[in-house]
Amino acid sequence: MKLILLGPPGAGKGTQAVNLSRELQIPHISTGDIFRANIREGTALGLRAKSYIDAGSLVPDELTVTIVTDRIQRDDCKNGFLLDGFPRTIPQAESLAAALKSMNARIDAVINLEVPDDVIVRRMAGRRVCKNCNRSYHVKTIPPKQEGICDSCGAELIIRDDDRAETVLERLKTYNEKTAHLIGFYVKRGLLLNFDGTKEIPETTREILETIGKQDNNL
Ligand code: AP5
Ligand code: MG
Repeated sequence: MKLILLGPPGAGKGTQAVNLSRELQIPHISTGDIFRANIREGTALGLRAKSYIDAGSLVPDELTVTIVTDRIQRDDCKNGFLLDGFPRTIPQAESLAAALKSMNARIDAVINLEVPDDVIVRRMAGRRVCKNCNRSYHVKTIPPKQEGICDSCGAELIIRDDDRAETVLERLKTYNEKTAHLIGFYVKRGLLLNFDGTKEIPETTREILETIGKQDNNL
C-alpha cells in the first residue's frame, strides 16, 4: 500500500509509522528524519535545511520534493511505502501525484491524525528520540525501559533541537498556514481517513490497520 501520514507536529506520525511499517512490511520514509540525518552528517543538504528547521518553518519545496520522488522509485518501495511528514504543501502534493502517475501508481489512503494543540505542546515538552533509529519516547507517558536508552536498538536518546517551546509554537503555526490545506486537498480526492490521535498508541494502530484493510478490499 502507498500511504501518507498527515497531522500536526507531535500528532504521533513517527510513532504510528514505526508500527504500521512493521505490520504492513513497507518502508517508513520521514523527510524530517532524512533532514536530521543530513544535519548530523554535515552534508550540503543538511546545512541548507538546518536554518529552516530550527526556525520552525518549512524547508523549501525544491529541496524536499526530489528527495522523496527519488526515494519512492527505489526497489524496496515496489510493494508500497509510508510517507511521514511529506507532502506538507499543495505543490509538494501535486509533485508527488505527478511522480506517481509517471510510475503508473497512486496513493491508496491518507491517514490524518487529529490531536489538539494543548496535547501537542505537552507531548513535545517531554519527547526524547533515539539518535540511531528515530523511535520517539516521552519522559513521563512513554518512558524507555532504561532511562536515556532506546528499547529497540540500545542507542542514546536525545532531545530534538526543534522541540524548544517557542519553536514548537512556530511549527504549529506553520502547520496551520501551510499544511492543513492538504486535508481539503485529499478529501476532494476521496483519500482522507481521520483518526483520533489522542488514544493509546496500539489502539490507534489497530484502528488504522482495520480501516485501511477494509479500504484495500474495496480497491
Ligand atoms: P518532522 O520531523 O516531520 O516533524 P513534525 O511534523 O513537526 O512532527 P514530529 O516528528 O515532531 O511529530 P510526530 O507527529 O512524528 O510525533 P511523534 O510520533 O514523534 O519535521 C521536522 C522539520 O523538518 C519541519 O518542521 C520542517 O522544517 C522540516 N520538514 C520535514 N518534512 C518537510 C517537508 N515535507 N517540507 C518541508 N519541510 C519539511 O510523537 C510526539 C510525542 O508524542 C512523542 O514523545 C511520542 O512518544 C508521544 N506520543 C505519540 N503518540 C502518542 C499517543 N497516542 N499518546 C501519548 N503520547 C504519544
Ligand atoms: Mg516525526
